[in-house]
Formats: sequence, structure tokens, C-alpha cells
Amino acid sequence: MNQDNIRVAVFGLGFVGLPLALSFALRGCKVYGVDVNEELVEEINSGVTYHHESYRGEGIREILRRELDAGRFRATTRPQEAMASCDNIIITVGLPVSDGVPYTGHLEECVRSVAASLKKGDLVVVRGTLVPGMTRGLVLPLLETSGLKAGEDFNLAYSSERIAEGKAFEEFENMPGLVSGYDRGAALRSRELLSVVTKAELTVASSFEVVETAKVVENVSRDVNIAFVNELARFTKAMDIDIFEVIALANTHKRVNLLTPGPGVGGYCIPNALHYLTPRAGELGVELALMGTARQVNENMPAHVVSLVMKNLKVPPAAARVAVLGIAMKDYSSDARCSPAHRIINLLERAGVEVRAYDPAVPSMYHFTVDSLEDALGGAHGAVLLARQDGMEFTDLEFFVRLMNSVEPFVIDAKNMLGGVESPPGLTVEGL
Ligand SMILES: NC(=O)c1ccc[n+]([C@@H]2O[C@H](COP(=O)([O-])OP(=O)(O)OC[C@H]3O[C@@H](n4cnc5c(N)ncnc54)[C@H](O)[C@@H]3O)[C@@H](O)[C@H]2O)c1
Repeated sequence: MNQDNIRVAVFGLGFVGLPLALSFALRGCKVYGVDVNEELVEEINSGVTYHHESYRGEGIREILRRELDAGRFRATTRPQEAMASCDNIIITVGLPVSDGVPYTGHLEECVRSVAASLKKGDLVVVRGTLVPGMTRGLVLPLLETSGLKAGEDFNLAYSSERIAEGKAFEEFENMPGLVSGYDRGAALRSRELLSVVTKAELTVASSFEVVETAKVVENVSRDVNIAFVNELARFTKAMDIDIFEVIALANTHKRVNLLTPGPGVGGYCIPNALHYLTPRAGELGVELALMGTARQVNENMPAHVVSLVMKNLKVPPAAARVAVLGIAMKDYSSDARCSPAHRIINLLERAGVEVRAYDPAVPSMYHFTVDSLEDALGGAHGAVLLARQDGMEFTDLEFFVRLMNSVEPFVIDAKNMLGGVESPPGLTVEGL
């Protein structure tokens, strides 16, 4: 394929869509990014994005500006403008989950807008995470309202998205992928398109449904694995042995891969994953008891962390101050939006505790965030460590003792950030 002649319209310019669109552009393709958010489109066209992504040492803003200047990328709110000149359409609009229920409205609106400008010969690749069965049951009939037929007039493919935020460019390139098509021709055409960006293997699967299900299950399996070690942590604590040593030892077995316990599971992907399976499981009359229990175990972790704080507090909650260090949804992330830290802080505040939180990588200011470690720890009765960040490594625990309130200060270390560091007299350190 001559990449200069490839024209791609990427629908949705969020965490997946923008870096994906730029990944095609920086390989020479002519790319339109389509989004309904006018402010976002304007911002992107003026060279501004707040995503924390980079590729080969270059930040996403620099990549964006170069691709805009070179005329290889442009954002628009007008699907027809993008689709008039593109025969490859990639949909990255997903299904937000609210109260455990996936919302299909954005995806439906997006597919309708694609259908309205669909041409003979177009390839449509759905890349968002779906409830298994939705490419065939929802996307296909909506596209066919155009009067065109899949397999005859246009190609329809589903290819799951596996990137992690912060590593998007590198993972588009190097993460093995899965593709499926309405027929084999659609799957092969989709693989050819995606291979412009992806150097790793792209496996052609037998149906949309297996790829949709594999995607959801990849995330559910991590949820279950984390719930397993979170539960195990209670057992090892009661045994007075180190959970992290147990996990490291168990993982020396070549067929064992235990993840690490923590204060809960954050982000959009893993906590939502089960909710993409349950609608279909309900329709099919299949009970997913183990997966449901695992989700509940992880959902309950913030309350468990708070119970450890309450157990260690030597003053009434209403007179207590607690430092929360690391509020990102996972280690080294700058994203705190779907982080268990919010639940923990909310539960502490509801109990009357004053919370001062610090995370050097999270730019968002919440009412509970302060500007430095010293501000967070100063006078605190307890500290809770929730996420690792560069610039927040602790090798000297005297630092905690010096800053914290002198009445039996304690640290709840939910991430083993103090593992191997000796506690000075007077400081209690407790894991999960
Ligand atoms: N973020 C990740 O790291 C990640 C990883 C793997 C898979 N996914 C999946 O990829 C999909 C996209 O995730 P995301 O994080 O990029 O979401 P996002 O919310 O950041 O972006 C979605 C974008 O779609 C736009 N949009 C909504 N309706 C539209 C329409 N009708 N037409 C055009 N644009 C429309 C929104 O304005 C938004 O900018 C989801 O299904 C998600 O589960 C995300």
C-alpha cells in the first residue's frame, strides 16, 4: 500500500482517537479526525491537546502541530467533509458505563452519521469496546440504513483497542492486535489498513463476536486477578507474611502470573469491563458469579483502606487530618478521574476527616489537593499511600515522623511503596 494515498477518517478524538489519527498521519496518510465536541475540535486544530503521550521522544502537541502544518491531519465536526475524501473509516467512540449500564447513544449517533455519508467501497472499522454482539446487532443494521449492503457495497470490520493511556503511540505500533470482518475480505482489508501503524502481528479471527468478547475478557481477567490477590492479601496479613514476597515467589512458576494488590481498580477500562458482559449474559440466562464477586471485591477495597485508617486513628475522625499521597488511577499515571482515591477521600471526608492529598503528576486541582508533600503530611495523624509517582519515592521514613502529628502517626501503604524500608520508632506502617 502506498501510504501517501491512504485516506482515513477517525471518528472520536479522545484518548484513543487522537493519537490513532496522528499515528496514521505521521506515516504519511491523509487523515481527518471527526468529533462532535466543537471546542475540542477547535482546540485540536489550533495545535492544543492535553493528552500525555509521546512518540520517539516527541510530545503529542509537537506531533499534532507538525501534522496540522503538513496538511496531513485536520479535525472537523462535519462527518460528511471527512467522508467525502476518505474511504477508510475508523470508529473509536465507545460505550460509557453509568451505574453499571453501558450507554449506546454516542455510538449510535456516530454510526448514523457515518451511514449518512457512506459510499460504495468504504471500509468501516469499529475500534471501541463493545457489548459482544453489537457490531453485528447494532452497528451493521445502522450502517445498512444507508441503503448499502455490507459485503457487497462496503466492508465492515471490528478490531479491538488494547492501548494503555500514556503509551498510545508505542502500543499502536507494537501491541499485537485482533481483527474480524463481516467476511474474510473485510478482515483482510482492515488488517492491511491497520498494519500501516501496527508492526506487531494482527491476527484475523473467525467472527466479530470472538474479538469483541476477547477484548472484554482481557480486562475482566485483570479485574479477577487483582480481586484474587486483594483477597489473598487478607490471608497473608493474618498469617503475618509478606503478600508481595508470596506473589513474587508464586510468579517464578512459569504458568503463574499474579498481579499486585491495591486500593481498588481505577480507570475506565477494567472497572467497566464486566458491565459489557452482563447485558449479554442476562439475555442468554448465563450467571457470571465469579466475575461479579471479583468486581465486588475490588469495589470494596476503598472502604477497606478507610477501615484501616479508622483503626489506626488515635483521635476522633472529626479532629483528624489524613494525607493521601498518589491520587492517580494507577501508578505513574497523570489521570485521576476514575481513581479509587476519590472513593477513599470521599469516605474519609464523610466521616469528618480533613484530607490533604498530593500527587506530583496529576494537574487537576480538587478541593482536597495541596501543592507539596510537605503540605500534605504537615500535622497529619495518618498518611495513605495509593499510587507511585516519580518524585515520590520514600527511602527515609524519618521524613514522615518529622512532618506528621506526633500522636502515634501511621502510614497505610496500599501499594508496598515502603517495602524494605525500615520504620523508625513511633511510626506505624500497615499494608492492606
Ligand atoms: N482510553 C484507553 O486507554 C482505551 C484503551 C482501550 C480501549 N479503549 C476503548 O476505546 C474507546 C474510546 O475510548 P476513549 O478513551 O478514546 O474515549 P474518550 O471518551 O476519550 O473519546 C471519545 C470521543 O468520542 C467523541 N464522540 C462522541 N460521540 C461522537 C460522535 N457521534 N461522533 C464523533 N465523535 C463522537 C467524544 O466527544 C470524545 O471526544 C472506548 O470504547 C474505550 O473503552 C480505550
